[in-house]
Amino acid sequence: GRASAPPGPLAGRHLLVTAGPTHEPIDPVRYIANRSSGRQGYAIAAALAALGARVTLVSGPVGLPDPPGVAVRRVETAREMLAACEVALPADAAVCAAAVADWRVAREAGHKLKKVPGQPPPPLPLALNPDILATLAAPGPRRPRLVVGFAAETEHVVEHAREKRARKGCDWIVANDVSGDVMGGEENTVHLVTEAGVEDWPRLHKSAVAERLASRIAAAMPPGMA
Ligand code: CTP
Ligand code: CA
Repeated sequence: GRASAPPGPLAGRHLLVTAGPTHEPIDPVRYIANRSSGRQGYAIAAALAALGARVTLVSGPVGLPDPPGVAVRRVETAREMLAACEVALPADAAVCAAAVADWRVAREAGHKLKKVPGQPPPPLPLALNPDILATLAAPGPRRPRLVVGFAAETEHVVEHAREKRARKGCDWIVANDVSGDVMGGEENTVHLVTEAGVEDWPRLHKSAVAERLASRIAAAMPPGMA
């Protein structure tokens, strides 16, 4: 059983993971969303827990069970996701795998929007959502020592990932080639972009990507290092 297992390399560490889409309400019955399944982020949370970490998984709406041994905080909107991440701090490392909606509807209607005969459709002005990864990666006393983001790209994957790493201030970017049908799929082709350069990983099952990333994270924060 768990009690007799040796402590994993991430024992004593707190890891924060975001996963899934966010839902941004338009009115009480409608929302803006995206096709993220949450699978990659859930697999990362599970892999980190398997290495002994205490894991907080802040998850948007997905149809996945809680990974074993992981504390799951379920949220809907980007703003709720950011607030739940901030409550979960401090963390030794953060992995932002969520497909956060870039925009929300500027003013959520308090009632169901109705068609009015003869009237045009209602305008739907948008507002920019907070950037959770950039917020967690910003310098400060509560910044996790290692902050990892994802970048889903259909072209110039590594170039865009390098640019995102610099813009967001995170340490690593897992650049995700989504030119095939990855969203919702079982496999992922990724490149790990770090300060040291770019590693091309083979096409792998999402759980294998998660295990590889978890062991890289464990190697970056060896036991005994503050
Ligand atoms: N991210 C985030 N909060 C946001 C938007 C993105 O935390 N509001 C995180 C994602 O979880 C991911 C990384 O930022 O780890 C990159 O997300 P992505 O959508 O690829 O980048 P954007 O900066 O939103 O740029 P764009 O969608 O225009 O490519
Ligand atoms: Ca985006």
